[in-house]
Amino acid sequence: MAILEVKKAGDPVLKKVCEDVKKIDKRVKKLLDDMADTMYKNEGVGIAAPQVGVLIRAVVVDVDKKRYDLINPVIIHREGSAVESEGCLSCPDLFGEVERAEKIRVRYTTRYNKVKELDAEGLLARCIQHEVDHLEGRLFIDIAKNITKGRKEK
Ligand code: NI
Repeated sequence: MAILEVKKAGDPVLKKVCEDVKKIDKRVKKLLDDMADTMYKNEGVGIAAPQVGVLIRAVVVDVDKKRYDLINPVIIHREGSAVESEGCLSCPDLFGEVERAEKIRVRYTTRYNKVKELDAEGLLARCIQHEVDHLEGRLFIDIAKNITKGRKEK
């Protein structure tokens, strides 16, 4: 268990394309646990390995008190579209509207080396798409509209 430093926008590590995880060993599992600790500590709903400076395709999301560790995630189906406000642990205090698929299916490997598929919609689908973007070196501020400092009052 460890809280890791979250890299901030402007750090070149966030612009790199990540490599596949080839072997799910102790180091990968510890990284996933440390990423989860770091995400919960910062009250995030998702985190990708490059955000803690590790350029491998590993993501942790927890939108609704259910944690998913997604290794080598690939979005294999997208449906519909929705525009919602997003933020990112790497872009403190910035929010912006991003168009994403409303529903997705993602194929991934679990930490126990099983290949699974997950159907997601709403916030979970959005979060997975956001994190998979990180693995491609893409930040939400690269694609968002109406970026504001601080969340807009409604
Ligand atoms: Ni992010």
